[in-house]
Amino acid sequence: MKALKFFPVVAFSFLPALAHAEMGGEQVFKSVCAMCHASGMMGAPKFGDKKAWEPRIAQGDATLLQHALAGIRKMPARGGKASLTDGEVKAAVEYMVAHAK
Ligand code: HEC
Repeated sequence: MKALKFFPVVAFSFLPALAHAEMGGEQVFKSVCAMCHASGMMGAPKFGDKKAWEPRIAQGDATLLQHALAGIRKMPARGGKASLTDGEVKAAVEYMVAHAK
């Protein structure tokens, strides 16, 4: 019975740490961006498609990130997930760019 009493205390003390941990690029991509970028839905540059990414990458990292944060045409701001931090969006952009070079 002792273990049962302590379990909820331990579980709750870990929750805040998890909630504040930022997701990595791959995780953000898979949970948010892949919806459009995995298939190229609505004209999104497809993941790993070098030709589609080349002219976009040529705009420069800062511009790409700005478009990912603020949105551009059918690309929604932060991929439509407003709760993503700037760092998470940046990591996801870097993840996609790294796989399109
Ligand atoms: C609802 C579909 C959708 C989702 C979800 C989505 N995108 Fe996009 N994305 C698009 C479309 C469509 C474009 C092409 C926009 C254009 O240039 O007309 C695009 C373009 C981009 C570009 C290139 C912008 C440029 O300057 O050429 C980047 C970078 C990008 N998305 C990042 C992301 C990231 C990071 C996520 C996840 C956090 C994400 N997208 C989620 C649809 C989506």
